[in-house]
Amino acid sequence: MWQRIRSLKSSIKPTPGNVSIIPQRMNFDFKGLSKHWFDNEPVQTHLLNALSLTFPDGERFFVDSVRTFRHLAQSKAQQKEISGFIGQEAMHSLEHDTFNKMLAAMGYQQEAEGGQALAQRFIAGGHKHLSDVEQLATTAALEHITAIMAQWLLSKHNVIDKIDPSVRQLWLWHAIEETEHKAVAFDLLQQVTDGDYLMRVKVMAPATWFLLVYTFAYTAAFLRKDGLHNKPLTLANGIWQLAKPGGLFASVIPAWFRYFKPGFHPWDDDDSHLIEQWRASLDQAMADAQTAAA
Ligand SMILES: [Fe+2]
Ligand SMILES: [Fe+2]
Repeated sequence: MWQRIRSLKSSIKPTPGNVSIIPQRMNFDFKGLSKHWFDNEPVQTHLLNALSLTFPDGERFFVDSVRTFRHLAQSKAQQKEISGFIGQEAMHSLEHDTFNKMLAAMGYQQEAEGGQALAQRFIAGGHKHLSDVEQLATTAALEHITAIMAQWLLSKHNVIDKIDPSVRQLWLWHAIEETEHKAVAFDLLQQVTDGDYLMRVKVMAPATWFLLVYTFAYTAAFLRKDGLHNKPLTLANGIWQLAKPGGLFASVIPAWFRYFKPGFHPWDDDDSHLIEQWRASLDQAMADAQTAAA
C-alpha cells in the first residue's frame, strides 16, 4: 500500500512564460507606520505582524533547504529559477527585518524580540530533527501556505487597499514574489524524491501546526500589549473579518487542502495574471515615491 501512496506523483510544470523570478532590493523605510495598519483593525494587523517576525529566520531556512539540493537542478532554466528563489527570499528577510525593527521601535520591543527568539527555536528544532529531504519538503509545504496567503492578498477582495500606504508596498511586493517562485522548492522536491507523495504531504500538518501555534501566541501577545486581549467586541470583530467570505481564513483553508491532492502542482492554479496586474501597480507606486522624495 505504501508503495502505491508513494507513487501518486506530481509532475513538474514549467513556470508560466509571463513570470520571471528576479530578486529586487526595495529599501523600504516604513516612515509613519500606523499602529493598526491593516484596515485600522488590531487582530488582522497583529496576525500579520506575528507572521513578519518569523520571516527573517524562516526564509533563511527555506534558502538553506533549497541550497542543499541546488546542484541537482536539471537545466540552466531551473538553476536560474533556484538562484532567483534564493535571492528573493534573502531580500524578503532583509526587508522584514527592517519592518520588525520598526515594530520594536513602536513599543513592541518585547514582543518582537520574543517572537523572533521563538521562531529561531522552532527553526533550530527543524534543522536538528528533520533530514535534509524533510527540510526541503517542509519548505515546499510552507511555500504553499505563503503562496495561498499571497493569492488572498492579491485577490479581488480589495485586500491590498486595506493596508496603510506606509507599509502597503512591502506586503504587495512580498505577495507578488511569493507567487512568482511558488513552485521552485516544490519542483526541486519532486526531483529529489522522484515524486514521493508521502514525503511531500507528511510534513504539512506538523509545519502548519507550529505556524498556527506560533501565530496565535504572538497575535495574542501584541493584543495584550495594546490592552485589547480582554475586549470581546474587538476580538470578535477581528475573528469575523478573518473568517467571513473573502477573509484570510475563508480563502486559505480550502486552498490549504489542495496540497494533499495526488498529482497536485502549484501552477495548477495559474494566477500569473495577478502578478502582471500588481507588478505594474507596484512599479508605479515606487516611481511615485521616488518622485515625491526627489
Ligand atoms: Fe518570502
Ligand atoms: Fe517564498
